[in-house]
Amino acid sequence: MPQLNPCPWIFILLISSSWAAYDHYRLPSSLEPLHYNLRILTHLNSTDQRFEGSVKIDILARESTRNITLHVAFLKIEEERTSLSFKQETNSITSIETNELYNFYILHLSQELEKDQIYQLEMHFAANLNDSLSGYYKSNFTDAITKEVHHLAVTQFSPTFARQAFPCFDEPSWKSTFNITLGYHRDYTGLSGTPVIECQKHGSLENYIWCDHETLLKTSTYLVAYSVHDLKNAATIAGDTRNRVTFRNWMQQKLLDQDMISMEIAPKLLGFYENLFQIDFPLRKIDQLTVPTHRFTAMENWGLVTYNEERLPQNQGDFLQQQKDMTASTVAHEYAHQWFGNLVTMKWWNDLWLKEGPSTYFAYLALDGLQPEWTRGERFIARDLANFFEKDSNATVPAISKDVKNPTEILGQFTEYVYQKGALTMRMLHKMLGEEAFFQGIRSFLRRYYLGNVSQGDLWQSFQEVALQKGIISDKLNLSSVMDSWTLQGGYPLVTLIRDYQTGRITINQNRFLKGNDMVINSSCWWVPLTFVRQNLPDFNRTSPQFWLECPSITKVIELSDLPTSDEWIILNPQVGNIFRVNYDEQNWHLLKETLKNDPNFGGIHKLNRAQLVDDILALAAGNIHKYDKACDLLDYLKNERDFLPWQRAVGILNRLGALLTGEDARKFKLYMQKLLLPLYKRFPKLSGITESTPAIKDIHFAHFVYTQACRYNVDDCTSQVKTLTLSHRNGSRDKLPLNFQKVAYCSFLEEGGDEEFQEIFGLFQNSTNATQRRIWASSLGCTRDFKNFEKLLNLTLQSDEKPISDCYVLAVETALSRDALVSSTGDYILSHAKVTGEKFKKRELTGLLLSLVRNFQSPEKVEELKERLRDIKQFEEPLKKAIDQVKINQKWQKDCSDDFSKALGQRI
Ligand SMILES: *[C@@H]1O[C@H](CO)[C@@H](O)[C@H](O)[C@H]1NC(C)=O
Ligand SMILES: *[C@@H]1O[C@H](CO)[C@@H](O)[C@H](O)[C@H]1NC(C)=O
Ligand SMILES: *[C@@H]1O[C@H](CO)[C@@H](O)[C@H](O)[C@H]1NC(C)=O
Ligand SMILES: *[C@@H]1O[C@H](CO)[C@@H](O)[C@H](O)[C@H]1NC(C)=O
Ligand SMILES: *[C@@H]1O[C@H](CO)[C@@H](O)[C@H](O)[C@H]1NC(C)=O
Ligand SMILES: *[C@@H]1O[C@H](CO)[C@@H](O)[C@H](O)[C@H]1NC(C)=O
Ligand SMILES: *[C@@H]1O[C@H](CO)[C@@H](O)[C@H](O)[C@H]1NC(C)=O
Ligand SMILES: *[C@@H]1O[C@H](CO)[C@@H](O)[C@H](O)[C@H]1NC(C)=O
Ligand SMILES: [Zn+2]
Repeated sequence: MPQLNPCPWIFILLISSSWAAYDHYRLPSSLEPLHYNLRILTHLNSTDQRFEGSVKIDILARESTRNITLHVAFLKIEEERTSLSFKQETNSITSIETNELYNFYILHLSQELEKDQIYQLEMHFAANLNDSLSGYYKSNFTDAITKEVHHLAVTQFSPTFARQAFPCFDEPSWKSTFNITLGYHRDYTGLSGTPVIECQKHGSLENYIWCDHETLLKTSTYLVAYSVHDLKNAATIAGDTRNRVTFRNWMQQKLLDQDMISMEIAPKLLGFYENLFQIDFPLRKIDQLTVPTHRFTAMENWGLVTYNEERLPQNQGDFLQQQKDMTASTVAHEYAHQWFGNLVTMKWWNDLWLKEGPSTYFAYLALDGLQPEWTRGERFIARDLANFFEKDSNATVPAISKDVKNPTEILGQFTEYVYQKGALTMRMLHKMLGEEAFFQGIRSFLRRYYLGNVSQGDLWQSFQEVALQKGIISDKLNLSSVMDSWTLQGGYPLVTLIRDYQTGRITINQNRFLKGNDMVINSSCWWVPLTFVRQNLPDFNRTSPQFWLECPSITKVIELSDLPTSDEWIILNPQVGNIFRVNYDEQNWHLLKETLKNDPNFGGIHKLNRAQLVDDILALAAGNIHKYDKACDLLDYLKNERDFLPWQRAVGILNRLGALLTGEDARKFKLYMQKLLLPLYKRFPKLSGITESTPAIKDIHFAHFVYTQACRYNVDDCTSQVKTLTLSHRNGSRDKLPLNFQKVAYCSFLEEGGDEEFQEIFGLFQNSTNATQRRIWASSLGCTRDFKNFEKLLNLTLQSDEKPISDCYVLAVETALSRDALVSSTGDYILSHAKVTGEKFKKRELTGLLLSLVRNFQSPEKVEELKERLRDIKQFEEPLKKAIDQVKINQKWQKDCSDDFSKALGQRI
């Protein structure tokens, strides 16, 4: 029955306007929300999962206006209870207009709001707790013992989902304070960003309570959070931060006895950042909530940090080192956000990188600060550099700071690319300005914009001031122009350095580096900081720029005051502090190569530069700028290389090239890899003894890499070592095989074995209830050579409705596609099951799957087939586009470069 309007004199007209009427995607600036009083009553039982609430917003009229625009999405608003008051008077609402695209909810008023007055808007609303992992959503878990399903409710407001939970000014720049009151059944726990002040009985609902929470400091809506749940608190821990922050750690019963990574490191991280930034964390408590389902991996909400139980393995004792490192970096990232994002927030989502870049980068510094000998931060930086140089070399790559308007575009900003390039941009400033000026700039930025909002120009300005004051840059240099050239356009330059060995003059020029294109002259340019290191003074710690290659000028002639002699090399860009590639003249490459090959200390060349020299020379060969013969000449030095980073980079790139070769060329490639890897393999202890002497944590990554690659290419006795190792653990003592080396062990076991071996491991997979173990079995099973067997695993995992099991499909397929035996039949399988695959997996997973698939495409017919079979499957539309782009680049390489590559290999085997 329709409810009667209690105030018949308010005539409300609901208009739904077409979006075309709006160019303005932002809320008008005439109104400023100051404070929200939010009351949310949550109903949570097996039949009823919904909420109802009210909000009172104090609004300052900055200009006079006759309308109020705010955000509402998917909420049922009780219009007749909406009111606007000003000093006891009520203003009437004449009509309501909505806009679907931007989720605007516009109240038209009978009287004008007066400038500089504060009004109070009250609205009442309700909705079901949704399944979409956004707004105020529901989640559930099943008790391991009683098998009872528990329901819970939790928020995910970033980036534009607060409007699904309550009417609000849902833009990051409208910061307000919040009084939150939560109502729920007393069997549950209610959490929000601040501690509870007091609770009282609900007026009419039996056993329900209302609890008031302390006022939350001035904040953007996307950082507000609350939850009603019956999870358990594993521990209450007092942090050693200046405000003695109390941590609680909520999770399912079954996780309680795990040794959670976030529980251990969160308090340490907060203390670390307080010292680094010299600004105290302002809240008194933090609840860390591990949620069974979560849209992202984690979320940095004020006082209520949430983690994705599925995607963020937490148990210290139980996971691969690589996963533990990822988890630690995620936790470190969320806590860096408390300063970058929470205290100081971007004005708008175009500058998302302003919180994601610094949080990613400072997380690396924090990991290295807390546990230097594990060198985790350094490894992440090397990974980001490798990804960046690979991915940012196509013509369509967007800038990290770019216009976004509607919620879909805003969500689309959250890409790995923005995080990683954002981190490298911060690192660039760090290396450019040096330790002292960088941190002084950061601190003054955070202090100046404390609880405020910024655009990227504000960050540049803070650095500009400090750098000028310290005499690090000249007053002619405009740091904004410099940095804008990196953040407002995609791509990166190839800097070419030509020495005149008679005069000592150096000619430098820049060109955009584009993979797969023949270096067409392009008008893009960057402000490139130039720092040279010479052989006789190899100081790779001095990273501040000596010169600038300006933009728009393309070429510059430089005379170094400290002239290198003609028989010493020079290197540009120490520590790869800046994100560009370098090409040198023939003679300088030759000098570099000689030093790398002959000097046991590699001439003091920094490991990141060694990795980059390898990366650059291989990229230049793929761009037809150098011959592969020259690239392989440089790679020969690897036989002496003892550091992980250059190896990892070189082999990563070579493996991708190898996958594009066929027949005789592919055979040559294997032999080449065997030869390349042999000296490295020999330096590592025998795999069969790994149970007795497991590598130290800091060496696990390198060891794992070496055994995996060596066995993959049948280097020396790798596979027979694995056999010995696996057989000795075949019965009973399987779990004594160190977790980090199980995959390489079982992979060879399966590759060498037959039906019996497959059945054995497949049986273990089917019976396993341990997720970590299951993932290891699944990815190892992809190493089998018999597709009939493998197909059983694919069918089982693809048909499963349990996400952790169907995830194993992706793992198994990834392995199969990275080896020879099953590539084509697995490819067929994927395509003939495309429809169900498309429905089951996320876009990101589908893209990964297709990119792995096309990595092995050697003929154009394959592409046609791919297009044909994925046609009309909507979920594959975008992944397919990306895959085809990749194929085009690969095909060009096959046509233009593979002969040259193969010839170079032929001379070295
Ligand atoms: C769930 O709660 C509603 C009231 O919100 C109540 O009517 C219903 O009986 C409850 N169901 C169960 C199974 O407790
Ligand atoms: C709301 O009022 C402002 C200022 O009075 C005006 O510029 C704007 O167009 C109005 N918006 C709508 C949707 O009526
Ligand atoms: C538990 O949540 C999942 C989604 O994560 C949903 O599919 C399922 O129906 C829920 N179970 C119950 C009993 O509500
Ligand atoms: C918010 O709550 C505090 C108590 O924690 C109270 O003093 C204050 O008046 C409240 N603010 C508003 C606008 O209701
Ligand atoms: C899962 O298996 C791994 C490897 O065998 C083991 O270390 C871990 O303790 C197991 N976890 C559980 C919860 O049993
Ligand atoms: C270019 O790179 C961007 C970002 O990595 C990616 O989204 C896009 O699909 C790539 N385009 C091509 C042609 O590879
Ligand atoms: C460079 O810096 C690193 C790390 O701070 C230090 O260990 C090393 O000794 C420095 N090298 C030189 C040549 O100053
Ligand atoms: C799996 O479990 C079943 C039933 O518990 C058992 O019969 C079977 O032997 C197990 N298989 C393996 C390979 O452990
Ligand atoms: Zn983040």
